[in-house]
Amino acid sequence: MTAIPLIVDCDPGVDDAVALLLAFAAPEQLELLAVTTVGGNVPARLTARNARIIRQIAAREDVPVYAGAEQPLVRAAEAASHFHGESGLGWLETFEPDTPTAAGHAALAIVETVMASPARTVTVAAMGPMTNLALAIKLEPAVVDRLAQVVVMGGARREGGNITPSAEYNIFADPHSAQIVFSSGLRIVVLGLDATHQVRTTPDRLAAMEALDTPAARTAAQLLEFSQEVERRLVGPGPPPLHDPCTIAWLLAPELFTAVPVGLNVETSSPLTLGHTAVEFRQDDLGAPAIRWVTEVDADGVYALLLQHLTR
Ligand code: RIB
Ligand code: CA
Repeated sequence: MTAIPLIVDCDPGVDDAVALLLAFAAPEQLELLAVTTVGGNVPARLTARNARIIRQIAAREDVPVYAGAEQPLVRAAEAASHFHGESGLGWLETFEPDTPTAAGHAALAIVETVMASPARTVTVAAMGPMTNLALAIKLEPAVVDRLAQVVVMGGARREGGNITPSAEYNIFADPHSAQIVFSSGLRIVVLGLDATHQVRTTPDRLAAMEALDTPAARTAAQLLEFSQEVERRLVGPGPPPLHDPCTIAWLLAPELFTAVPVGLNVETSSPLTLGHTAVEFRQDDLGAPAIRWVTEVDADGVYALLLQHLTR
């Protein structure tokens, strides 16, 4: 398998951080061209720092981190620090990383990286509000045809929302950017809550992670322990879903996932349903189905993949 040239766009964020640990631990499969950060779960200043903290823990300072949009395209920023802690990394001890962010805005870094790479080779894994990707598309529309694909964590259809009854957080946080991305013609695989709610960190799965003795595994376990506590406190007694690492798992082992072609539009104006993803499964209404929606996940396979890579 040739390594996939990859840009990870994220808002770390506890689950983004676990996704980064997984991506950093798979250099043979993923050629990480850049990590780009966006304001989301916590403000942009913190998401940029947090990505660099995880990069340092993973000893991957070879990968540049570019800071990006501090605000959504149109609406006001709405953080989710109740799910990620004020720092954005739960109980993890934070510090000022040794290596600074790279110069330049994340959106420009996406444009320059994609346009400087061979056509249809670069993938973007988008696991936060999609402001940077939308800005990149507006700055240089040619990125749409030049990108190989985009893997998105976002949206909900059969599962309902997690930030409002109708919307999942990443889309709700910047619905206008999401609509730009989903209507651009990009080849997109979407892992919404319909997928990620099938992937839950049960006590057994967490114990298996805690039993590993590597910096990455210890860090991931601590992040997931925080998610377990927050889920109990804010949602209920069940195990927390594992959202963002599913995008990286899809890239590493797509056979663990089932996806179907869909139409997809985003509610960008209703105060009641802002950020809702209207996912159309009926085949005769799709038009050119550039979007695929993940409906089934082999959760045991995802955790086995996580453990396999975090032992490195
Ligand atoms: O709804 C889950 C998504 O929102 C994840 O990306 C999580 O990090 C938050 O950003
Ligand atoms: Ca995220």
